Amino acid sequence: MRRALLAAAALALAGAAWAQDGSDTTARAQKIIGGSCFLCHGAEGESASEVFPRLAGQNAEYIAKQLENFKNGTRKSTAMASMVAELSPEDMVALGRFYASRPPHQEVASDAALAGVGKYLYQAGNKWSGVPACASCHGLTGAGSATLPRLAGQHAAYLENQLKQFHQRARNNDNAVMHTVAEKMTALEMAAVAEYLSGQ
Ligand code: HEC
Ligand code: HEC
Repeated sequence: MRRALLAAAALALAGAAWAQDGSDTTARAQKIIGGSCFLCHGAEGESASEVFPRLAGQNAEYIAKQLENFKNGTRKSTAMASMVAELSPEDMVALGRFYASRPPHQEVASDAALAGVGKYLYQAGNKWSGVPACASCHGLTGAGSATLPRLAGQHAAYLENQLKQFHQRARNNDNAVMHTVAEKMTALEMAAVAEYLSGQ
């Protein structure tokens, strides 16, 4: 009986510590976001401008890794380099968790015909040129996974720009996985798949 009570007390304590940790993490992330990130990415990661990626609904581990990559210079961005200089690994984890907890964005693709070409490429790839199906890694719905980014609902202009960067090897913080994917992609394919994903 005594043992059961003790176990219950220990569980309650562990639960309290966990809840405490959860709200501390949120407070830590919101403080950093309110200090700078909101200017470009919005207070909830909704990012109103096409130039700045949406972070709401993005996967937590992927975000933390990108922040680390901007800090150690493996991913280059003049806009982001100074933003991450003061962030600790704990800050990066907190920011990732916060953005991942926000609802992802959804909008209707503006060019339905172009999005149709993108849908085919996303789901089946281009067997004539050897571009693999994006869905094989990023998932059929574009939600990604812990280490793979969510693409669904992202701004088309941002996605297209990243594909160009991978194509030219200007971005290679993924050990060139995406370079192998993007090297055979045409300008039309990049625009089409970006248009499709923005509406998912
Ligand atoms: C001055 C505008 C600006 C501010 C402020 C800013 N960012 Fe960014 N952020 C950008 C731009 C531009 C990119 C895209 C860089 C590229 O082209 O690779 C980016 C990219 C990112 C990415 C990568 C997203 C992805 O899908 O790969 C993350 C994560 C991120 N920012 C988080 C933050 C956080 C956290 C802060 C605050 C500490 C912040 N940003 C502040 C402009 C900004
Ligand atoms: C073999 C697995 C694989 C395939 C297939 C693949 N990707 Fe990726 N993709 C990745 C990885 C890994 C990353 C980057 C992770 C990182 O930066 O750490 C990535 C990142 C991206 C990003 C950057 C997202 C952001 O938020 O900055 C875009 C855009 C992208 N992929 C689009 C595509 C498209 C479009 C296709 C199909 C033509 C595709 N991917 C096929 C593995 C894959």
